[in-house]
Amino acid sequence: MRHLMSPLDFSVEELEKLLDLAQDIEANREKYAHACAGKKLATLFYEPSTRTRLSHEAAMLNLGGSVLGFSSADSSSASKGESVSDTIRTVSCYADICAMRHPKEGAPMVACQHSSIPVINAGDGGHQHPTQTLTDLLTIRSLKGRLNNMTIGLCGDLKFGRTVHSLINALVRYEGIRFVLISPEELRLPEYIRHDVLDKNQIPYEEVVRLEDAMPSLDILYMTRVQKERFFNEEDYVRMKDFYILDKEKMKLAPEDMYVLHPLPRVNEISVEVDSDPRAAYFRQVQYGVYVRMALILTLLDIHVD
Ligand code: NCD
Repeated sequence: MRHLMSPLDFSVEELEKLLDLAQDIEANREKYAHACAGKKLATLFYEPSTRTRLSHEAAMLNLGGSVLGFSSADSSSASKGESVSDTIRTVSCYADICAMRHPKEGAPMVACQHSSIPVINAGDGGHQHPTQTLTDLLTIRSLKGRLNNMTIGLCGDLKFGRTVHSLINALVRYEGIRFVLISPEELRLPEYIRHDVLDKNQIPYEEVVRLEDAMPSLDILYMTRVQKERFFNEEDYVRMKDFYILDKEKMKLAPEDMYVLHPLPRVNEISVEVDSDPRAAYFRQVQYGVYVRMALILTLLDIHVD
């Protein structure tokens, strides 16, 4: 049985296959409409979510399966003190596969050790968010036609942003990847990722504070929100929250073929005036997230459609 805890759980070849499957799903929706008939997906969300929970559910419904679950810890037995391991043992009796989001790093990992169904990590604290990474990879590959030889700008909260951590882990396996890390000093990428992932793999990167300085050299600009819920005090959050605001003026500095991605939700970091720019790809990214999660569910359940 396979789980998805980190994007590295798939080899580059397996990822390639998964993204190919997602593209086939996009082109032939009908062919997959009953592939998961009789199967159930449970969504166990101990933290708020719009896209991740609903896109897993939409993915299973598009495959002809059904869904059950809870969308907050308050409405589950976690509020009575139940452990993650007992919850997953229980859910294993109800569903064929599950997606779990939890504020504690490593909680989905604990779950998969006690589970008799595949567990998908749908975000664990400030650690990883592998299905967002699958979404990001499919988006980049679909828009740019490749995943290698690219300069990727990562902007915003690089300290707490789990989507950034997972995306870096996944991208360093491709040739010719360069990163520009754009953040205020307080929200720099954690040292363990700079050293253990970037330096160890000899990945070129630079760290800058000003977004304007980075824009002209980028193929992809990946914007992120300042992660309010992971700050220790409100004051620091308030000071940081509007550090970056991507607007039309700044977009003038970007190449014609640079795409803007954002895992969403957006707060203030991208002005709504940018939405109509053809390079703004964050809502297309949401759509890719459904196709890639359909491909993921089929892969983890080992269901093949010809
Ligand atoms: C992200 C998350 O939950 O980490 N959202 C998402 O799943 N698309 C990003 C965020 O909350 O800022």
